[in-house]
Amino acid sequence: MTDKQPINDSVLASSFPADFIWGSATASYQIEGAAHEDGRGPSIWDTFAATPGKVYMGHNGDVADDHYHRVEEDVELMSRLGLDAYRFSVAWPRILPTGRGTVNTRGLDFYDRLVDALLTKGIKPCATLYHWDLPQPLEDKGGWRNRETAYAFADYAEIVARRLGDRIAGWITLNEPWCSAYLGYGIGMHAPGVQDRQAAMDAGHHLLLAHGLAMPRIRAIVPQTAEVGITLNFTPAYPSDNRPETLRDTALLDAFSNRWFLDPIVRGHYPEGYFASMGLNEPPIQEGDLAIISTPIDFMGINYYSRNLVKGVSEVPLADRVPLVTPVPEASYTDMPWEIYPQGLSDHLLRLYREYGIQKLYVTENGAAFKESWKPGDEHVHDPRRVEYLRQHVQALAVAIEQGAPLKGYFVWSLMDNYEWAEGYTKRFGIVYVDYETLQRIPKDSALWYADFIAAAHQVH
Ligand code: NOJ
Repeated sequence: MTDKQPINDSVLASSFPADFIWGSATASYQIEGAAHEDGRGPSIWDTFAATPGKVYMGHNGDVADDHYHRVEEDVELMSRLGLDAYRFSVAWPRILPTGRGTVNTRGLDFYDRLVDALLTKGIKPCATLYHWDLPQPLEDKGGWRNRETAYAFADYAEIVARRLGDRIAGWITLNEPWCSAYLGYGIGMHAPGVQDRQAAMDAGHHLLLAHGLAMPRIRAIVPQTAEVGITLNFTPAYPSDNRPETLRDTALLDAFSNRWFLDPIVRGHYPEGYFASMGLNEPPIQEGDLAIISTPIDFMGINYYSRNLVKGVSEVPLADRVPLVTPVPEASYTDMPWEIYPQGLSDHLLRLYREYGIQKLYVTENGAAFKESWKPGDEHVHDPRRVEYLRQHVQALAVAIEQGAPLKGYFVWSLMDNYEWAEGYTKRFGIVYVDYETLQRIPKDSALWYADFIAAAHQVH
């Protein structure tokens, strides 16, 4: 669709294997809207957004991108872009309005229609079961602080797998449990807004348990060809100098940002001394929990946006001084503002392969928020910085593959502009622009670039 840098891009495209999956990702609360329709129950994000001062200008997901009513149009858009796969999330409160018990079949019907529409267009559906919209009635009983929520999640996972399992290519139990635990229960930046670092550790353990309990419940139902895994967010930590305190703090920050969830899943134990380094107690780990948590996964999903450059500081426990990160004067930043550092992606993919021995990797999110200048009537949305960001990160994938990383696919975050949690609608991550007045979708230059790139990647083989 565009003629930008054809040589470079086609050379880059040719470095990926023929069966590499090029996709894009979204999440239920961020795009669906229809928050009070067809029997959906309230989620912690409805409550949080309605709490004054928690979300930018009180923005909420009541309408969002109205995807719930525009599924056909949105799938058509994905098809025009030539996506191989689409990663979406299932809203637990649509399926079980109170979190457990009575199933709302109209909720399942919606995802059924979405999945069928995708398959009609030859797009592989990849479902995330939990992307942060916990049913509020479960939060009323302690949410992820309560071990019972893990069992409720496994029941819910089985219900969804029974209905959609014959058609879903990839299952992701949880999206970024680090964020659910730490942002949700530790510092209260996300729903449910609890500020208690010990609660974050407890919630983290129950999230991990939920994942481990759900794995066999899904596996028992879905065909052998379907892949079941989890998505973690990673922010690689790099030392800003070689002083011992800097190296020590880099290791501590790495345990907190990356290994807290990774190690139990892959190695069957938490990083050594982790909870003490946080100045906190161990969560309530019961006998057998870590064996459940480390149930083998078919793949690890990686969400990558940026890195942390660490400056060693003091003897204060980590929990009281995160993030101990230093700005990088010469670097470029996105609108979040996160440093643009593509090398962190290749480094991290290689680390998961070399140090952790993971045999199948997908980048389930990568992308950037930038401010676009668009006004009603404009036919194009020029986003050269996003095109550049994506190109640089795709190059980083090629580097990792070349050095042996078993990377099988890449999903751009996000298909379209959407509700960026506590930032409301102010941060635009989409490769498709959404005019929130009219809900019109306008592919940005980055979408056109991605479409061309995918076509080139498939053509060369
Ligand atoms: C990770 C989350 O999974 C997604 O919901 C969010 O919008 C992006 N990162 C950008 O912050």
